[in-house]
Amino acid sequence: LVFWVVIPAAGVGSRMRADRPKQYLLLGERSIIEHTLDCFLDHPALSGLVVCIAPDDPYWPALPCARDTRVQLAPGGRERCDSVLSGLQRLDELGANEHDWVLVHDAARPNLAREDLDRLLAELADDPVGGLLAVPARDTLKRVGPDGRVVETVDRSVIWQAFTPQMFRLGMLCDALEAALASRMQVTDEASALEWAGHSPRVVEGRADNLKVTRPEDLEWLAQRWKTDRE
Ligand code: C5P
Repeated sequence: LVFWVVIPAAGVGSRMRADRPKQYLLLGERSIIEHTLDCFLDHPALSGLVVCIAPDDPYWPALPCARDTRVQLAPGGRERCDSVLSGLQRLDELGANEHDWVLVHDAARPNLAREDLDRLLAELADDPVGGLLAVPARDTLKRVGPDGRVVETVDRSVIWQAFTPQMFRLGMLCDALEAALASRMQVTDEASALEWAGHSPRVVEGRADNLKVTRPEDLEWLAQRWKTDRE
């Protein structure tokens, strides 16, 4: 099995309240996105990797990985799915086949364990659709009304949190994202586009610490982990 990777990295990350997009914040001595790329670049089955960058992004060119010949660029778009579609188009130019596997992974998710990546690849290798790393809900879940009061308690045994990488065939993913865009559907991950197209992606249980840096406390937690791992 060989695979391609698309890293959407063209978001602003306003929930971080930082002076720059969150993937450029430091985790230890290097930026978050450099750690994210490390998760894939040394994998023997990697065919190629594309990072989707905002056209006016001043931070990317300053990174050492911007000169890494294994990393290709694509222009990011307005929404996440525009960025991913642009990355898929770049893969096509690089010679990817429509049946090839593509893994889409958030730039701001730097703590992907190699064992999780390998389990995803192994479990989905023969799957007709593909799927994603996910984690079963741990806490009790409430549906809440606009008045801030609980409407009901949701059955958590059937609820999973969707993580990345999300792994689909290039052609199928492209078609699903284009159809979702055309219908103005809200696409916050690739799997939801596949679902909308009538497919059923599979979940592969992953580690809960493969978290996406979204709020300042996420980065504090990861930085602490990084420090203790090195000590
Ligand atoms: O905002 P959120 O955390 O959901 O973004 C997930 C990923 O999608 C981030 O890596 C972000 O940079 C990327 N993204 C993008 N293009 C956009 C919006 C988000 O590549 N227009």
